[in-house]
Amino acid sequence: MSKSHNVWVSRPLFPEVLDHLAQYVGVQAEATERKHTAAELREKLANVDGAIIGLSDRIDSDVIAGNRRLRVIANLAVGYNNLDVPALTAAGILATNTPDVLNETTADYAWALLLAAARRVSSAERWLRAGNWRGGMRFDDWLGLDVYGKTLGILGMGRIGQAIARRAYGFGMPVLYHNRSRLPEDIERECRAAWVEKDELLKRADHLMLVLPYNAQNHHAIGKVELALMKPTAVLVNIARGGIIDDAALAVALREGRVAAAGLDVFEGEPAVHPALRELDNAVLSPHIASASADTRRAMAQLAADNLLAALGHGPDAGHPPS
Ligand code: DGY
Repeated sequence: MSKSHNVWVSRPLFPEVLDHLAQYVGVQAEATERKHTAAELREKLANVDGAIIGLSDRIDSDVIAGNRRLRVIANLAVGYNNLDVPALTAAGILATNTPDVLNETTADYAWALLLAAARRVSSAERWLRAGNWRGGMRFDDWLGLDVYGKTLGILGMGRIGQAIARRAYGFGMPVLYHNRSRLPEDIERECRAAWVEKDELLKRADHLMLVLPYNAQNHHAIGKVELALMKPTAVLVNIARGGIIDDAALAVALREGRVAAAGLDVFEGEPAVHPALRELDNAVLSPHIASASADTRRAMAQLAADNLLAALGHGPDAGHPPS
């Protein structure tokens, strides 16, 4: 039976989520994952009422210019720096994201990167797989950095930052954080975290995690000057957005030992990764997978679908049974 609304899904999604969508709306879903050009996005969005898209799909005024039909863009992420929200608002198009469902999984991964970078897990594994482990091992080889008992710094203390902070208790780590505004006291108490100025955070943190949203103000929030303030024994973890770090400056700091190690899940211009970072053994690099557990990615997809359906007036809560 023909549906009153049609939607486009820009990448493969869990079949059960697509089936759920298809109960209410006509669905056209891409079978492969790839970055779409502005021209492709303009064409795909021209004849649909809504779309579920991913971070690599950049929706700006050019893409939606003249589009009279589109009513909602559901982003498959909590971050939405790929959307020009003022342009969407001006065009009367709703934008939705997937907050909360990924907080704990993303926080877990920030810790995975910190531990892997501090204890040299990736380079040790590469060394072992290359067949280098033959005649035992020197007692003073593969020495890493301690995490337990060190001071953890968190730059950006939203819901994911708070989930990271709560885990620090188990590692016996005092937490310092910086946010534009201080958290309410009860949350600070629950997270056992103390607010400090950004420079103080950079100087005092034994290890530092970046959990900021990306926007024009946060572009290169960690550059040459900020890296110079950090301890040379510090590990820097970024699970937020690539543009927050000046990757070229970080590569120099890591190479010269001015920052001990880094765990990076996001990169400026990803999927491209700065060539100098790829050369470094003290950088653990992963392809933007901090939220990628099976349960969490399914929950994000389901939330994006529910957001889209609600915006179009469908779904269990909207009182429109499948037609
Ligand atoms: C987000 O949701 O913003 C993450 O970066 C995607 O995994």
